[in-house]
Amino acid sequence: MMTNPAIALIERRVSANRFDADHALTDAEIEDLTRLATRAPTAYNLQNWRFVAVRTPEAKARLRSLAHGQAKVSDAAVTFIVCGLLPDHTAIPERLRPFVQARYMPASTVASWQEGARAQYADPGMARDEAVRSASLGAATLIHAAEALSLASGPMVGFDATGVAREFGLGPDEVPVMLVAVGRAAPGNWPQKPRRPLTEVLEIA
Ligand SMILES: Cc1cc2nc3c(=O)[nH]c(=O)nc-3n(C[C@H](O)[C@H](O)[C@H](O)COP(=O)(O)O)c2cc1C
Repeated sequence: MMTNPAIALIERRVSANRFDADHALTDAEIEDLTRLATRAPTAYNLQNWRFVAVRTPEAKARLRSLAHGQAKVSDAAVTFIVCGLLPDHTAIPERLRPFVQARYMPASTVASWQEGARAQYADPGMARDEAVRSASLGAATLIHAAEALSLASGPMVGFDATGVAREFGLGPDEVPVMLVAVGRAAPGNWPQKPRRPLTEVLEIA
């Protein structure tokens, strides 16, 4: 039986550490990756994220020095700073406007989503959680999009978030959640690591 290609890429993806430092990505390729990443779902369709694609040698060197000198930050064609935004409930009508205009959703639903989001994110902890959730889903989708385009990826949390926010001019509502290096794999990457058995991680309730 033929393996489904989406399942095959989930099963073969690895967190790469070695990248071909001579490989570059075009603007169009970076846009493609980001467009695919933004197909990830977000609460209330907030799309509360921003992707900073760091690819000049100078910017990669600055980012690398804020990421414990990890070589993949500068070896990979691009290292994305995946930012989650603190949710802004007032943006919801705009994010859904074409959907309402196409008559999929009544305007009253938009109003109740906006009120739901306002109440839910009044607590700063909840707002930050949502920023981290959205950026994490975007990063996961970016990683799988890269794999689908025959590119390797390496997620990283080992970086100075305050330094990255300062150096890359992030706004006060932007949380740098994860770095994701994307490029062509060089030889020497490990295979996918062992996963815990389902008996430990799955409960069917
Ligand atoms: C949120 C997150 C942060 C990570 N941070 C780093 C990092 O800073 N440096 C690094 O070399 N690997 C990092 N990793 C890679 C993990 O070690 C790797 O995903 C894990 O060992 C599983 O490897 P596999 O995906 O190849 O099976 C990170 C992974 C995730 C998901």
